[in-house]
Amino acid sequence: MSQTLPEAAASPALRIGRLELRSNLFLSPLAGYTNLPFRRVVRELGGVDLCTTDLVNARSLLERNRKALKLIETHETDRPLAVQLFGSVPEEMRDAAVFLQERGVHSIDINMGCPVRKVCRVGGGSAMMTERDRTARLVRSMVEALRIPVTAKMRLGWDDENLTAPDLARALEDAGVAAVFVHGRTREQGFSGCVNLRGIRAVVEAVRSIPVIGNGDVTTPEAAACMLRETGCAGVSIGRGAFYDPWIFRRIRQHLATGEASPEPGLEERIRIMNRHLDLMIEVFGEEHGCVMFRKVAPWYSRRFGPVAEFNKRVVRLVSREEFQGIVADYLRWRAQFCDGTGDLLPRYRPAPLALGYASTDEAPPSTTRSAIPVPQGPVEVW
Ligand SMILES: Cc1cc2nc3c(=O)[nH]c(=O)nc-3n(C[C@H](O)[C@H](O)[C@H](O)COP(=O)(O)O)c2cc1C
Repeated sequence: MSQTLPEAAASPALRIGRLELRSNLFLSPLAGYTNLPFRRVVRELGGVDLCTTDLVNARSLLERNRKALKLIETHETDRPLAVQLFGSVPEEMRDAAVFLQERGVHSIDINMGCPVRKVCRVGGGSAMMTERDRTARLVRSMVEALRIPVTAKMRLGWDDENLTAPDLARALEDAGVAAVFVHGRTREQGFSGCVNLRGIRAVVEAVRSIPVIGNGDVTTPEAAACMLRETGCAGVSIGRGAFYDPWIFRRIRQHLATGEASPEPGLEERIRIMNRHLDLMIEVFGEEHGCVMFRKVAPWYSRRFGPVAEFNKRVVRLVSREEFQGIVADYLRWRAQFCDGTGDLLPRYRPAPLALGYASTDEAPPSTTRSAIPVPQGPVEVW
């Protein structure tokens, strides 16, 4: 394994347009998950700077739709913040972006990766990758109307026959985007197969000077280092890996700075942060709705607890904060049967180390060896 860290790792600050960032690590949008409580959790744990909201429909924002406004809810600690817009009508995208700029949002990300039929049918999401000139015109009209940076998030292309990302990224750079985020899979691939690091590298090589941020399957600090090294990207964006492990950004920073493996947090720390996450869910969504939403969040934390059936069985019916305390207390008593005298899990019950995600050899792999990373439930199976 190469000992030389790429420049981006040694000096992780990054500039996106006028935005001076303190980290080259980013939180990827995960619709239904990257809401304000989760963003605050990862920010409190450190290592990340620019976080992005779930995607928001530009037209719904212009109509001041209540759900759309909830998606852009923020907090003084939730900075800098990018809002991700989707839509295909240039005027709507531009006006929604201006509205967001006036509300103090720091950057606008355009969704060009969403494979959902409803979005693509009207020319938004990944359909944008197939219409380079039209997309570039839309982007240019947004850039001209804004002071804050505009970025684009795309996949490698529609399918293996149409790897349009390099060409599109270059055209968007000419139209004024300040950075591109690239998930190293095609729209057709969904989440199957491997993240294609060479495909991301082709995008890095296609642009003149804007930062390209690599994305896909980063679940460990070593995988982030591999993404930076093999693709030459300026930064790494993480979605599901942050849900598994909200500490991941801090751990990556530490790993990049020292080259040392960074240990995963222990059970006590996981429970502390899980409680914090629930408190923030309740603060933002109210106790009833916050608890219902937390039913799909808690099992992500518990994946690393060891034996967990007793916890998951109850937490998926959670109705109140008080009940949660009881569930955790009962769970810890039940879990003791799997532990030794000092309270550590017996070796045979310990969760397997988090998958590396990528091969870590000096040779650039043609693509990565994919380890199974669960795709959270949601309206979108194949983002
Ligand atoms: C449940 C779910 C929701 C997603 N929502 C969005 C979204 O709103 N906008 C977007 O650009 N990408 C979305 N994505 C894609 C992620 O941002 C990311 O590109 C992808 O998950 C690969 O990165 P990861 O392996 O780090 O998760 C979503 C992915 C999942 C699994």
